[in-house]
Amino acid sequence: MADKRAIAVVGATGAQGGGLVRAILDDPSGGFAARAIARNVTSDKARELAQLGAELVAADVDDEASLRKAFEGAHGAYCVTFFWAHFSPEKEMAEARNMARAAKAAGVRHVIWSTLEDTRQWVPLSDNRMPTLLGKYKVPHFDAKGESNKVFTDLGVPTTLLLTSFYWDNLIHFGMGPKKGPDGKLAFTLPMGDKKLPGIAAEDIGKCAYGIFKKGREFIGKTVGVAGEHLTGAQMAAALSKALGQEVRYNAVSPEAYRGFGFPGAEDLGNMFQFKRDFEEYFCGARNLDVAQSLNPALQTFDPKKRSYRPQRSVTL
Ligand SMILES: NC(=O)c1ccc[n+]([C@@H]2O[C@H](COP(=O)([O-])OP(=O)(O)OC[C@H]3O[C@@H](n4cnc5c(N)ncnc54)[C@H](OP(=O)(O)O)[C@@H]3O)[C@@H](O)[C@H]2O)c1
Repeated sequence: MADKRAIAVVGATGAQGGGLVRAILDDPSGGFAARAIARNVTSDKARELAQLGAELVAADVDDEASLRKAFEGAHGAYCVTFFWAHFSPEKEMAEARNMARAAKAAGVRHVIWSTLEDTRQWVPLSDNRMPTLLGKYKVPHFDAKGESNKVFTDLGVPTTLLLTSFYWDNLIHFGMGPKKGPDGKLAFTLPMGDKKLPGIAAEDIGKCAYGIFKKGREFIGKTVGVAGEHLTGAQMAAALSKALGQEVRYNAVSPEAYRGFGFPGAEDLGNMFQFKRDFEEYFCGARNLDVAQSLNPALQTFDPKKRSYRPQRSVTL
């Protein structure tokens, strides 16, 4: 392992980081070693990564000194924050700052910052198409990440900004999946109208990140967006109907209705989907499927049977 370049992976026991750790470990001749960062290195998930061959290091994104130690000697670092653990954009920005400073201090050669758009660049606070949330955000969990990009660049950390996409896994794990309505039919609800939603299998984000680390300098200073497919609600409903062998309907509601659903984060997500709907062309364009596939040749589609039909094209950023 000593001759391999270590990638320190924040959130290693989670969706994005887990995908990256597994991608590194699945490619023993790739020249990289996985350093899995977790708060609790004795958890079942952490031990599982160790058994697969990862080095385990304890650190917390709220503790810059712990991050610095965890990043020490690493060639690369995958930096991700956990908005839904606390719902605080200020805390998320502080965590991004901690990671950027720690990477700078440790002399990490290549950081991937898992980010999203600062939507206020498209929808200023004065734009009343969607409410301003928490006094100064439109989509708090996007804006905090986008605002944090400059922390990495201002510090001169060699960074790739990775724009992620909606996890299709949300349809299983995040309560957004099809539910039986009063008519007994399955339906899932999104406020996307007939617009396309870039989506991805969560583990593919980490696999794309691995592709970025492998390409190295080519991607430093660049912004890269990844998605597995751009699909309308109707297209997702058709694929789900086929997979489940029963009709699944897409229940298109307005962003206003979605914001009013009352679950924690409903307003943030209502604004997020409205942003994706209203700026469909930009948002899909920033998540190029060919770029994602060139980084991760095994990139999954929503309907797994479709994957082989996607044409492979050469890609320039
Ligand atoms: N859901 C979506 O569709 C979607 C799409 C794009 C982007 N995102 C963004 O993805 C981010 C979350 O990434 P994820 O889904 O990969 O996370 P995740 O699956 O929730 O995993 C988080 C992992 O990180 C660790 N962790 C949590 N808090 C930590 C802390 N304070 N310090 C160090 N480690 C900590 C936890 O492991 P230990 O307990 O072992 O430490 C946990 O296993 C969010 O900011 C979200 O906005 C989500």
